[in-house]
Amino acid sequence: MSLQPFFEWMGGLRFSAFFLESVWPTPIVQCIHLVSVAVFVGALLLVDLRLLGQGLKETPLPQVARAAEPWLFGSFVVLVVTGIPQMSSTALKQYYSPFFWWKMEMLLLGVILTVTIRRKMASTEESQLGPVWPKVVALTSIALWTSVTIGARLIGLLS
Ligand code: HEM
Repeated sequence: MSLQPFFEWMGGLRFSAFFLESVWPTPIVQCIHLVSVAVFVGALLLVDLRLLGQGLKETPLPQVARAAEPWLFGSFVVLVVTGIPQMSSTALKQYYSPFFWWKMEMLLLGVILTVTIRRKMASTEESQLGPVWPKVVALTSIALWTSVTIGARLIGLLS
């Protein structure tokens, strides 16, 4: 099933035209998207570094994870809310960009990892985790979210 009709519909919305034709909405939304990337990656790294045995070593892992979680989920919601207008106002450019689809695939994998294995692991006492799996999960998480940001940057650079 092709998603092209959906992207054509999105690009044709008045909301998309408003974004494309007005001067301020796009840069403001892009700035908020980028600030949210910084908050999201910060909250992510607090836990991933901790899983790697680095960073806030004095604080128990579940405590670090609990403190980071509202920032992680809150900034993700802002990323989705600010990503949608950018996507709809340039819908066909996104549809034809392989990097957009790369970003979305990595994003989906990143979300699945974050809300399943990584979340369960981060709420468990370290003594029960063993030395290898926390590092595997942390490195996978860092690799997936780095791929999301590289894919996102390439949409703009190579289209
Ligand atoms: C469903 C959620 C998201 C949607 C729909 C979305 C959509 C977009 C779109 C359409 C762009 C503009 C690309 C262009 O044409 O140049 C963009 C830029 C970007 N996004 Fe997202 N995004 C989402 C989530 C995320 C997440 C989770 C991250 C990182 C963790 C992220 C990082 C970036 C970065 C780094 C840029 C490039 C900004 C620039 O080059 O100035 N996005 N996003």
